[in-house]
Amino acid sequence: MDINIRVMTRKDKPGIMRILATTPEFKPSEVVVAEEVIDSYLASPRSAGYCTLVAEIDSVIAGYVCFGSTPLTEGTWDLYWIAVAADKQQQGIGGTLLGLAEKSMREEEARLVIIETSSLPAYERARQFYLNHGYEVIGHIPDFYTLGDDKLILQKRLK
Ligand SMILES: CC(C)(COP(=O)(O)OP(=O)(O)OC[C@H]1O[C@@H](n2cnc3c(N)ncnc32)[C@H](O)[C@@H]1OP(=O)(O)O)[C@@H](O)C(=O)NCCC(=O)NCCS
Repeated sequence: MDINIRVMTRKDKPGIMRILATTPEFKPSEVVVAEEVIDSYLASPRSAGYCTLVAEIDSVIAGYVCFGSTPLTEGTWDLYWIAVAADKQQQGIGGTLLGLAEKSMREEEARLVIIETSSLPAYERARQFYLNHGYEVIGHIPDFYTLGDDKLILQKRLK
């Protein structure tokens, strides 16, 4: 499998939207916010505060990752979204995207990466993925998203 990871361009948006819309973990309201972030990035790739990488296989978008420097911090970055098409998961694409996002953050002098995720069972695979890539749970806000759906905050120190 030949994966090409590169910076997102405008023509990649339909492929990313297809992945978001068919990812069962994401609620429609989350897809709306993800699209707003993509649009804001595309409108101003250098100054929107977001970096977006896509994974392409045979000219088809198979996944993406979106991250950005956290406003009002020195060296803290947020990993906002990562998703891989359901039929392309468990083949190393998510790990490759995450690794290259971290490389890009390191190049920008990032020292801390923060990820927020849900405690629901549907996110167990994502949680395990983050833990296996060196992230640790450092915060837990009960009932944050809704009753019974807690916010988990994970971090990884890059230096
Ligand atoms: C989380 C997510 C991005 C991971 O993407 P992925 O492409 O499946 O990730 P990888 O293939 O690199 O790794 C997944 C597992 O596949 C296995 N794997 C990796 N490469 C492999 C290969 N070449 N062959 C077989 N298995 C492999 C690994 O064991 C890995 O296990 P781990 O996650 O426990 O470390 C993906 O599951 C996803 O899009 N989920 C839905 C959206 C989501 O929940 N996003 C996060 C919101 S907080």
